[in-house]
Order: sequence, then C-alpha cells, then structure tokens
Amino acid sequence: MSSGAWMMALVILIAVATLGFLISCTVRSIRDERSAHRSVWREFGLSIALMVLFFVTWAAQFIAQWQRFTDEQLTDILTYGRPFSPMPAWGIDGGGPMNPQQIDNLIAYLHSIEIPKDQARKEATDAAEKERQRLLGLGDSLAAAQAKVAAATTDADREAAEKEVALIETELSYNAGRYPSMGQALFNLNCARCHTLGWSYDEPRAPGTGAYGPPLTNVDNQFPDVDDQIDFVTNGRKRGEKYGLNGQSAGRMPHFGKLLSADQIEAIVKYERSLRETRS
Ligand code: HEC
Repeated sequence: MSSGAWMMALVILIAVATLGFLISCTVRSIRDERSAHRSVWREFGLSIALMVLFFVTWAAQFIAQWQRFTDEQLTDILTYGRPFSPMPAWGIDGGGPMNPQQIDNLIAYLHSIEIPKDQARKEATDAAEKERQRLLGLGDSLAAAQAKVAAATTDADREAAEKEVALIETELSYNAGRYPSMGQALFNLNCARCHTLGWSYDEPRAPGTGAYGPPLTNVDNQFPDVDDQIDFVTNGRKRGEKYGLNGQSAGRMPHFGKLLSADQIEAIVKYERSLRETRS
C-alpha cells in the first residue's frame, strides 16, 4: 500500500472511531437519562442531529477533497453517486440522467480544471516531445506503411495501408523543407484542433488552414509586432476586446500562459509566423 493509502486508512479509522464514540455516548445517555414521559427527539434531538451532521460532513469531505481518484473511480462515483452522502447518481446505470459518454466528457472537463499547474505543464511538455519525435520519425513511418502495402495479402489490408501512406505523404508535404521543430509539435497538440482544417477528424489539411479559429497564414500581418502575438497567445483577449491590427476577440480563443512556458509560446509563435510561406 502506498503512504497515501495508509494515511487514508488511518483517517478513516479515526473518523469511524470518533463516530462510534459519539454514537455510543448518545445511546448511553439516552438510556441513562431519558425521562420516561418525554420523547427521545424532545430530549436528544440536538445531539442526534449533530451526530448526523458530523457523519454527512465527513462523507462529503471524503468525496470533495481527500483522494485523487483514478478515472475508473471517478466514473463509478459519478455514475452511481455516493451512498450515505449528498452526492447523487448522475449515470443512467445509477438511475441518473447522463449516458457514459457524457460522464466521460464530464471527467475530461474535471481533469482540465483540476490538474495542478506544474503537472499540467509537465504533461504538455512531455507530450510535445513525443509529438516532435513522431514528426522526426515520419520518414520511417512512411517506409513502414509502404512495406505494409507491398506485404498486404487482402484488398482491405492494402487499402488501409495505402490510406496510411497517403496520410503520411500529405503530412510530409506540408512539412517540406522544414525541420520538425518544437514549435510545430506544440502547435499540433495545442492549436491545430482549432486552427487546422480536418485535424480533429484525422484528415488534416495544411497547418493553420483555419477551422473553428481563423487561418493563421496571415498572422504576420495581423501582428506586425511579434510581441503582440506572443501576448495574445499567452494572455488571450476577453470577448469584444481588440487584438493585433484588426482583430476583435469573440472570447473563444483560449489562452496558454498557464499551460505553456514563455519559451514554448515563443516557439509556437515562430512556427505560426513561418506559415506565411504557405500563403498563396
Ligand atoms: C478552442 C479553439 C482554439 C484553440 C485551441 C486555439 N485557438 Fe487561436 N483562435 C481561436 C479563435 C476562435 C480565434 C479568433 C479570435 C476569437 O474569437 O477570440 C483565434 C485566434 C487566434 C489568432 C489570431 C488570428 C488572426 O489573424 O486574427 C492567433 C495568432 C491564434 N489564435 C493562435 C493560437 C495558438 C498559437 C494556439 C495554440 C497555442 C491557439 N490559437 C489555439 C480558437 C482557438
């Protein structure tokens, strides 16, 4: 058992013991001191109420902040609620209104607001390094996919492999002449889903073609001063505020100052500004 689990067991033990002590005190005093002609509630209502309150607070406390739950645990808690606590069941299986997909979405959202800043930053950095390695390995992946085409024995296998080859070739053509940089890796992971058409459904078009967010092939005109662009990406702009030369925020562009370091944002911005080369 980890030290956290031991602590958890200890705290539960103390809490249960305290609760047991309170219950036994109340039961004893009810037995010893109760006047025969008065109702239990009349004489001991307050202590019973306090005891119940203690129990509820303890259970709520447990849920609210004690443990870092695993996703499985969270799914269970959200789906079935917590008996003996104010936490209701949200999942259909538990009699609540949400389907499993909605519970998953909720958990993803909880993660996004819950991960401590340092950890989130570390995860973003690690993921970017992994993405950079993927970009560097695209040539090898292409060769492997081409070998798969050659080795395919069924039409279905060959088609799948050919699709893979086409995808990698397209991606390589976008990178033509550019050495995969950290900026590009960070862009792919943090920005492409909104700024590159097709990125979210595995049919990415040229980087920065624009999707939910505007195309980025013109950012050097929008932000003649590179520091303005860095500031925009770092701090964002509230809905209605101006940015760059002629931009007006709809408040939908997230800001990245909490998740990414200044160096990382600078690298992304440098990469974004290089996208002007793809401007036709
Ligand atoms: C959730 C979608 C989303 C993500 C993720 C996102 N953006 Fe945006 N971005 C937008 C939207 C929407 C706008 C338009 C401004 C607005 O509505 O606030 C925008 C505008 C911009 C602009 C100004 C473009 C112009 O010419 O006006 C830049 C530069 C930009 N984003 C860079 C980035 C970078 C860099 C990242 C990643 C670190 C990123 N964006 C991630 C949605 C997104």
